[in-house]
This record gives sequence, C-alpha cells and structure tokens, in this order.
Amino acid sequence: MYTFSLYGMNLDFSSFGGNSADRGKRIWQEKNCTGCHQIYGLGGYLGPDLTNTYSERGTAYIKAFLKSGTQTMPDFKLTDQEVEDLTEYLKSIDKSGIGRPSQLKINYDGTIEQPEK
Ligand code: HEC
Repeated sequence: MYTFSLYGMNLDFSSFGGNSADRGKRIWQEKNCTGCHQIYGLGGYLGPDLTNTYSERGTAYIKAFLKSGTQTMPDFKLTDQEVEDLTEYLKSIDKSGIGRPSQLKINYDGTIEQPEK
C-alpha cells in the first residue's frame, strides 16, 4: 500500500488558496487540537468542547487562550495570523450550529462535517 506523510514534507500552506477559516482548519489538524478538544461532541476530553465557544465567549477570549495558553492548555507559539485563522475556523463551526451526532459525516482525516442544511 502506498502511504506518505504530510508532516515530513514541510509544506508551506500559506501559499495555498482558501480563506482564513480553511487555513484555521488545517492548523487545527496540524496541531492536533482535537486530541484535547471536542467539536460537535467528538474529540479528546482534556479540554472543553469548542463548538459554540465563539458565540458563548467571543473573539478576545479565544485569542487570549491561543496566544499564551494556560497551565493546562499548551502555548503553541502561534503567529498572529495563525491565531486569526483558528479563530475564524471556530467562528465557522459555531455558525454551523450544534452537533447532531447521528447526522455527522466523519472524514478520513478526522475532521467532521455537518450535512448541508
Ligand atoms: C494538551 C491538551 C490541549 C491541546 C492539544 C489544546 N488544548 Fe485548548 N485547552 C486545553 C484545556 C485543558 C483548556 C482549558 C484551560 C483552562 O481553562 O485553563 C483549553 C482551553 C481552550 C480554549 C478556551 C475554551 C473555553 O471554553 O474556555 C480554546 C479556545 C482552546 N483551548 C483552543 C485550542 C486550539 C485552537 C488548540 C489547537 C491549536 C488547542 N486548544 C489545543 C487543552 C488543550
């Protein structure tokens, strides 16, 4: 079987197309945020579910966590652009609503999509 690792390839994703939320989704995958956080109720359980953090807590709150971490949330040394992109990603997830797990589509790369409304 043919396999390859994205991680070893040192790709510069900033040159790819896509909007800020798309880039945020890639950063989410690269940093394995889902190892500790759930989206739509799925993911790791060390940190809180982030599906509706954007509407419940707002931009400044999210950015504060992403910029410096806490005792239990790691500081990923993200650039301002990465913080912005991750915030946009969380915003897009928030807009898509609250999870209905029975209707969710789980992609091969571990990301989760809701069905079209
Ligand atoms: C090692 C586990 C771990 C990883 C990996 C991790 N987090 Fe966290 N995160 C936490 C914990 C634990 C908290 C709660 C921290 C606290 O309240 O002090 C948290 C809190 C947060 C919060 C605030 C949520 C709230 O409702 O208070 C946001 C936003 C967040 N993380 C985003 C991210 C993003 C984005 C990534 C990936 C870049 C990430 N986290 C990766 C453990 C993690």
